[in-house]
Amino acid sequence: MIKKIALLTSGGDSPGMNACTRAVVRTANHYNIQTLGFLRGYEGLIDNNFVELKRESVSNIIHKGGTILKTARSERFMTEKGIAMAVDNLFKHEIEGLVIIGGDGSFKGAIDLTKHINIPVIGCPGTIDNDLIGTDFTIGYDTAINTVVEAIDKIRDTAESHDRIFVVEVMGRDAGLIALRSAIASGAEALLVPELKHDSEALIVKIKNWRATKSSKIIVVAEGDESGGAFKVAELIKKHCPEFDLRVSILGHIQRGGNPTCMERVNASIMGFNAVKALMSGRTREMIGIVNKKVVFTPFEKAVKHHEKLNDDLVELIDILGS
Ligand code: F6P
Repeated sequence: MIKKIALLTSGGDSPGMNACTRAVVRTANHYNIQTLGFLRGYEGLIDNNFVELKRESVSNIIHKGGTILKTARSERFMTEKGIAMAVDNLFKHEIEGLVIIGGDGSFKGAIDLTKHINIPVIGCPGTIDNDLIGTDFTIGYDTAINTVVEAIDKIRDTAESHDRIFVVEVMGRDAGLIALRSAIASGAEALLVPELKHDSEALIVKIKNWRATKSSKIIVVAEGDESGGAFKVAELIKKHCPEFDLRVSILGHIQRGGNPTCMERVNASIMGFNAVKALMSGRTREMIGIVNKKVVFTPFEKAVKHHEKLNDDLVELIDILGS
């Protein structure tokens, strides 16, 4: 039986991280396992900055966005010295298992860490981008896409009143999954994402062919798209289609905050609960996920390989429904 585990949240925060933290702490507590929460992700492991998490430490957080454990993108953890300091602290506290809630950068860090220390490590996928292999939805994605849809609905009202084109930029450095789902749900007319080859000519032809009766037009662009983002797309349209009135809206970090949706809280709770059970059964170097409603485990090495292809049907659907 393990007696003591460590928990941290790392990388960009995402709504639902707190629900997952609560599930880890309360499950551990149920099995008489002590939990230390390291603050600001790997930075806390390096600096030995931690709090002991008891049952009551996680009261009243399931509905809150952000992460009570704070988070960071740790550059020091990418160095041998940083990892060595983190390993020392894990030994010092006699930690027998580690749960990391984070995205691909965090799991790459976990891979490096497990080369230096032989304790079980389990990852819970926490990122709004949904760009990890081995889960249908990452913690944060559902809330983020709902935030985006709510924002685009509002933009649609003003776009419709002014007969305007809006180019809306959403998050997703390497992945267009936030853009894809929110474009479908908001009835967007076009989608530009890193997974699809950018074709300026095709975009201009599409814009010129939009029905004359269509008053508002929304183009959803993922920040990592080859076009260079919303302002670049706007420049291109202004140059080739000056007849259109056009505005840009960059949604930014509002996508990372807010109260997690019901689905998020449930998934995060299932993942946190199963992460502790996985440590207890000796599983290691794996990310927990939910695929077709079942809990599954994917080795970190595989989980961090980005989705490369979007579902063609969904891409076609945007074209047909938004034309
Ligand atoms: O990885 C999640 C994410 O929100 C990306 O979509 C975005 O590109 C990035 O984080 C922004 O990170 P930061 O808040 O560190 O600027």
